[in-house]
Amino acid sequence: MKLNIYKDKQAVAKEFSEFLMEQLKEKEELTVALSGGSTPKIVFDHLAEHFAEAQWSKIKFYWGDERCVPPTDSESNYKMTVDHLFSKINVPEENIYRVLGENDPAEEAVRYGKVLNETLPVAGDTPRFDLVILGMGDDGHTASIFPENIEMWDADENCIVASHPQSGQKRVSLTGKVINNATAVAFLVTGAGKAEKVDEILNKKEGYKKYPAALVNPPSQNLYWFMDEAAAEKLSQ
Ligand code: 6PG
Repeated sequence: MKLNIYKDKQAVAKEFSEFLMEQLKEKEELTVALSGGSTPKIVFDHLAEHFAEAQWSKIKFYWGDERCVPPTDSESNYKMTVDHLFSKINVPEENIYRVLGENDPAEEAVRYGKVLNETLPVAGDTPRFDLVILGMGDDGHTASIFPENIEMWDADENCIVASHPQSGQKRVSLTGKVINNATAVAFLVTGAGKAEKVDEILNKKEGYKKYPAALVNPPSQNLYWFMDEAAAEKLSQ
C-alpha cells in the first residue's frame, strides 16, 4: 500500500493525473474503472486542462459504480465525466463502456457484468482492470457498496444492485472480487469528513472491517491512496 498525502484537493488532482499519465506511457492500452464523487471531478478538470492532448484513445473507460438514472441526469457519474472530461478531450466513443443507468437495475447489473467478462482480460474467472479508481464516502463506503449491505462485497457476481442507505437511490456497483482483482487500485480521498474513517481503516482500529473501503486489498499489492492533508489529518496524530 502506498500513501500519498498532499496539501489540498488541487494537489491531489495534479499528482493523481500525473500518476495516470505515467501508467499510460507504459502501456499500449489501459483499462480504467472510474469513480463518481467530488474528488474525481477535480481530477477530470485537471486532466482536461493539462493533458487534453494525451493519447486518450489508449484508455478504455468503465465505471466502478453508476447511479440508476439516465445519462443526462445530474446524478449520473457518466454525465459528470462527460461534463468535466470527455467533452474536452478526444476519446473514441467505442472506448467508453457506460453503465446504462436508464435500464432496469437488475438487468443492467447482469449486462454490465457480461461486458466486463467480454472486454477485459479474465484472471481466475474474474475480469481484471489495469486500474480501478475509488472514492470513499464519509461512512466508509466505496464504489456503491455501503456498510449497511457490506455482504454485497463478497457477491459471486461481477456487479450488483445496491441502494443508497439514505436516499434509496439504486446503483450498479462492481463487487469486491472485481475490485481486488485489479492490477492496481487508487483511492482518491479528500476532505476532513474522511479523516475519521481513514484513521480507523489505515490504522486497522477495532471494527474497521465493517467499512467496505477497508476490504479493498488487491493481491497485486498495488494499492495507492491519494489524499489531502485534511483527510489524513488523524493519521499524523
Ligand atoms: C458515487 C461514488 C462514491 C464516491 C464517494 C466519495 O457514485 O457516489 O462512486 O462512492 O466515491 O461517495 O465521494 P466524494 O469524492 O464526493 O467524497
